[in-house]
Amino acid sequence: MSFLKVALVFSLAIVLVAAQHDDHAHAGHTNHENHWVNVAVYYESLCPDSRKFFTQQLYPSLQGNLSNFVNLTLVPYGKTKMEFKTSQYEFECHHGPKECEGNKMQACALNLIDQGKKTEGFGFNKVAVAFINCLMDKTEKKGDDTIFPSKECAEINHVNNLNMIENCAQHTDGSNYLAKLGALTDVISNPLKSVPTIVFNKQFKADDNALAQTNFVKALCQYIQGNKPSECNGTSTLRISLVFLIVAGFITKLIN
Ligand SMILES: *[C@@H]1O[C@H](CO)[C@@H](O)[C@H](O)[C@H]1NC(C)=O
Ligand SMILES: *[C@@H]1O[C@H](CO)[C@@H](O)[C@H](O)[C@H]1NC(C)=O
Ligand SMILES: *[C@@H]1O[C@H](CO)[C@@H](O)[C@H](O)[C@H]1NC(C)=O
Repeated sequence: MSFLKVALVFSLAIVLVAAQHDDHAHAGHTNHENHWVNVAVYYESLCPDSRKFFTQQLYPSLQGNLSNFVNLTLVPYGKTKMEFKTSQYEFECHHGPKECEGNKMQACALNLIDQGKKTEGFGFNKVAVAFINCLMDKTEKKGDDTIFPSKECAEINHVNNLNMIENCAQHTDGSNYLAKLGALTDVISNPLKSVPTIVFNKQFKADDNALAQTNFVKALCQYIQGNKPSECNGTSTLRISLVFLIVAGFITKLIN
């Protein structure tokens, strides 16, 4: 190899490494709304895949820097069917009547914890999301019955209006909130094709939805503009390394 060719390969490598570094320059705490990615999760309170997604993908990813980039909409409705009969809504849930109860409880929690307001500086209410994650994690089947650990989850997460939430879930407020979630779900698909369904920036994409099920962080990071938090490194480092390998291979061919 001539000196010129070595220099060419070398400078290309430097450019690529620099690009990679720039890509991940300190994200800092950019919790400004301009940086938010809209994430909507369409799911069901008793669906095993929803529970897995919530507890293994969504919730863990919201514990670090990534939480500053997510404007989250939770839609616990899924494949529920609804009908307006005489004076009220009636629901038929995918995993039976208990699931309707669970969906309503979550719908009420989303509307009543801190009056449905987001936590200061975040695109979601941290207490409501933690409470719901606890329900998704700890709900148990006891014989034919399903027990919602609402008291335990409220205590752990300092939810101080559980009575209001449970009261809401058992009355028309809960039905009305669930009906609104039904209307939101219908916009994506009626009925929903798979549960959970994850939608980024209000546009359903099958590829993103599939990726999010097993690597939510990677799916989310694709949508984060500009400086990405360190949690995004793994995914794009791989991508850039691949580009580097291909280019290096190409150049090697060229000079040999
Ligand atoms: C966050 O999501 C809510 C609900 O979808 C939406 O109304 C709001 O405009 C979003 N905010 C930003 C900054 O995108
Ligand atoms: C948040 O990002 C900063 C800068 O990129 C990094 O130093 C820090 O370790 C990150 N925090 C977490 C919890 O990953
Ligand atoms: C991600 O990149 C940042 C900045 O280049 C670095 O400080 C951090 O250690 C990296 N984190 C991981 C998990 O590789």
